[in-house]
Amino acid sequence: MCGIVGYISKSGDRKSINVGIEALKRLEYRGYDSAGLAFWDESRQVICQKATGRISNLEKKMGGNGFLPLDPVILHTRWATHGNVSEANAHPHCDCTGNIFVVHNGIIENYVALREQLSQEGHKFRSETDTEIIAHLIEKCFNGNLEEAVRKSLGYLVGTYGLAVISSYDPDKIVAARLSSPLLIGLADDHFLLASDASAIISHTRKVVYLEDGEIAVINRDKFTIIREKKTEELDWPEYQSGKGSFSHYMLKEIMEQPGSVEQTIKGRLIPDEGNAKLGGLETVEKKLRQIDNIYIVGCGTSRHAGLLGEYMLEEYAGIRTKTEAASEFRYRKTLLDDSTALVAISQSGETADTLAAIREAGKRGALTLGITNVVGSTQARETDAGVYTRCGPEIGVASTKAFTSQVATLILLTLFLGRQRHLTITTGQRIVKDLLRMPEMLEAALQCDTQVKQLAEKYQAFDNFLYLGRKYSYPIAREGAHKIKETAYVHAEGCRGGEPKHCELALISDKFPSICIVPSDSVYEKMISNIEELKARNGPVIAIATEGNREIQNLADDVVYIPEAMELLTPILSIIPLQLFAYHFAVLRGADIDKPRNLAKSVTVE
Ligand code: F6R
Repeated sequence: MCGIVGYISKSGDRKSINVGIEALKRLEYRGYDSAGLAFWDESRQVICQKATGRISNLEKKMGGNGFLPLDPVILHTRWATHGNVSEANAHPHCDCTGNIFVVHNGIIENYVALREQLSQEGHKFRSETDTEIIAHLIEKCFNGNLEEAVRKSLGYLVGTYGLAVISSYDPDKIVAARLSSPLLIGLADDHFLLASDASAIISHTRKVVYLEDGEIAVINRDKFTIIREKKTEELDWPEYQSGKGSFSHYMLKEIMEQPGSVEQTIKGRLIPDEGNAKLGGLETVEKKLRQIDNIYIVGCGTSRHAGLLGEYMLEEYAGIRTKTEAASEFRYRKTLLDDSTALVAISQSGETADTLAAIREAGKRGALTLGITNVVGSTQARETDAGVYTRCGPEIGVASTKAFTSQVATLILLTLFLGRQRHLTITTGQRIVKDLLRMPEMLEAALQCDTQVKQLAEKYQAFDNFLYLGRKYSYPIAREGAHKIKETAYVHAEGCRGGEPKHCELALISDKFPSICIVPSDSVYEKMISNIEELKARNGPVIAIATEGNREIQNLADDVVYIPEAMELLTPILSIIPLQLFAYHFAVLRGADIDKPRNLAKSVTVE
């Protein structure tokens, strides 16, 4: 949620601030309520600067202040957890003497007790944060060697951290540590970069070392040391996908990218003749997967909605009992697991704290753990037994769009793979493969509704409540459509099963409460039409998302947006498109900050 960057060069250079800020800006989508940095100046003193709001405010503050910066530098962009948004609460935080500076992601759970103890020992606190504790602990433990002081301090902490520390007592090094909050070191020719997310450093180097939980890294000018031998990995992200291009927001850019991103997800993974999928990431567990007769899918937010779709398809086509649960619940309930159970964790970032906790819990209890994630080398990718990457390229918009359609496409690949291991016929497999191969082209066609959807957003912009309805494969899409408009436009929306409003939500319906009904021509079409009749009988305005060619629906709905015809299990990839666009245009009209939704961050690394 917050972002960390560190920079240290071989010879000590003056590029540190510019490089650091540029890297930090690439993390701004993760946390953006304040930012700060600490660096050396010519007289070998640590200078700390902070600003609330965007990183550009910090830049303005730095401009023309007369500092001649030297590295090392550590930087941070904050998403508030402990204490409100203020300069005092922005990172870096320092000890009583102003010689030890810390930036931190994560949460220190025992900070109240530690603060009390340190206060009694005479330490003076300047912020309301949990992070400041760490600076004072290092001060307390310091005996000439920074890494040793950091190591001792970590022993006091309960919680999670990714942190970076510099000190004028032990200069020319950055000390970093990780527990359940990602950190990596980028190895460039003349400098090292520390970051909490690979996207910060990708323009400098593709050689990275990921820190594991419990490790401390000491990054000197000419070398870095960590407790265990680490292997260097190659980041294989295509460069062209970074930046906003000509789009006004990342969210719109990413919606429009979906024909290409879904194509990347399925590329080279389909075997048309065999009606099957080829998933290299599952090869090591292929035999074990044949023995699986229960699947639990876990994820949060949008990833969980993809999981709900997985539940429908894995039961219908692979014949495996499947249940989807919010990762935040799964970790605490006593779900029955054994070695015939597989847990499938879905996460764009691969760093969501609740999802990681669910994976660890399931692994401890004997289940096979599989991951579907987008970020190569993420904690999820490294901690699951096996998995499949969604390959949709970096997703920067906080509202997840292209990651969702790629997650759904990946679940269809998984369904084919597990189905063909069991009773899915080659003919049905071939039909699924055929439609999936047409998906990029069908997505191009679905995106043609953009202008019409923008007009609908204008027509409905005064409404503050929406009901989203769908049945079977369209139910998770109703949930996801409501989720998108809530998080981007801050209006109330509910996503329900089409058959349920007569038990409750019809009480809300009037000419002031519109519904968005996902009603493709599928196996539950007639049922859904009856549900729309129920809304119309109560004067509720209805926007229908229907299959191209269905003219009948125009007699019932107030507005109709058409999507191309596809097999029932593939239709969600198409029906979500008008709902993403509606949320986007509606939010623009309501003046919301699209890429930085109120109170939300991209990667939720706290519980
Ligand atoms: C929705 C959204 C969030 C995420 C959720 C899980 O647009 O962005 O609801 O889907 O925080 O994130 P990941 O997929 O990274 O685990």
